[in-house]
Amino acid sequence: MTGIKTYYWTVDEDSPESYPQVEEASLWIKKNEVIAFPTETVYGLGGNALSDEAIEKIFKAKGRPSDNPLIVHIAKREQLQGVVSEIPENAEKLMAHFWPGPLTLVMPKGDVVSEKVTAGLQTVAVRMPDHPVALALLRYADLPVAAPSANLSGKPSPTAAKHVYEDLDGRIAGIVDGGPTGVGVESTVVDCTTDIVTILRPGGVTKEELEAVVGDVAIDPALLSSGQAPKSPGMKYTHYAPKAPLTLVSGSQEMLQKLVNDDRKLGKKVGVLTTEENKHAYDADIVIACGTRSDLSTVANRLYDVLRAFDYSHVDNIYSEVFPQEGVGAAVMNRLEKAAGGRTASE
Ligand code: TXA
Ligand code: MG
Repeated sequence: MTGIKTYYWTVDEDSPESYPQVEEASLWIKKNEVIAFPTETVYGLGGNALSDEAIEKIFKAKGRPSDNPLIVHIAKREQLQGVVSEIPENAEKLMAHFWPGPLTLVMPKGDVVSEKVTAGLQTVAVRMPDHPVALALLRYADLPVAAPSANLSGKPSPTAAKHVYEDLDGRIAGIVDGGPTGVGVESTVVDCTTDIVTILRPGGVTKEELEAVVGDVAIDPALLSSGQAPKSPGMKYTHYAPKAPLTLVSGSQEMLQKLVNDDRKLGKKVGVLTTEENKHAYDADIVIACGTRSDLSTVANRLYDVLRAFDYSHVDNIYSEVFPQEGVGAAVMNRLEKAAGGRTASE
């Protein structure tokens, strides 16, 4: 699949004059080719959700295991017709409140969606992204569009078009560059087929925000303990891992610094993931401030770019501070825990 010519369109989300380019990109989706596009969370790799051929191209371009289902993106509520077979009451409330936005709802599957999208499941995950370029692309294509994050499987999700280019140039028909994404971590995935709404993947919409709309919200037990099989198949894969081993350090700055010093004595090149507030506290080969601790949404926004930056800097080991599990901090910690693959240090 490598060696395809990848078209590149630059779109200014505030300038509708640049939208003819989005329309051009949408023609490729209609032709069952796959196109990367910006959303408010991360870049997606979109293909016609009704076409087996398009969906196969998505899995192939990403190198994604075919048992990991995709999210279907829509621009208007009417597009749910045929995509889902039923809209549970809680889903109705959540859509009214959070769409367009970073919330994906798992509902009973309708019959028009390719089986390959849902990896054979009887349910389908759907969301309406809150990004003018994504919405324009979906309207022009006039199709439900299946889109996983536009990274190679196992790499951090792309929050800028250059990340997509690094991973997928030569493997996909085109990239719509609409600038950096906002939220920075993927959408929250919730199961609406159970009586109590269940979070399958923490993300841009927080548990607290969901509870304000539907009352009690459960968390898939697999997110809390590693022994359980997750209901969201994607959560079982090691994701978002930088090339160098990353260790999550719950302890003092002195403790983290000592881990760095011990490694450097052995001749290792060491990176530290911290925030603006603490960046001057550390002495390492590379110290990266990932947003500000006082506003965790800035940490989410910067996270994947920072993980990729460690790859470019060829460090041997990365030590990261930990963040409170509140609000979007839950999604940040979920992604960092995956990046760490169980490596932790504490006092
Ligand atoms: O923010 C996002 O959600 C981005 C942008 C592009 O929209 N998309 C994204 O897609 O993160 P992806 O494919 O990287 O993650 C989809 C997640 C996976 O964990 C997958 O297992 C889960 O959603 N999922 C999809 N369909 C499901 C279903 N029917 N039941 C349970 N989980 C499902
Ligand atoms: Mg992904």
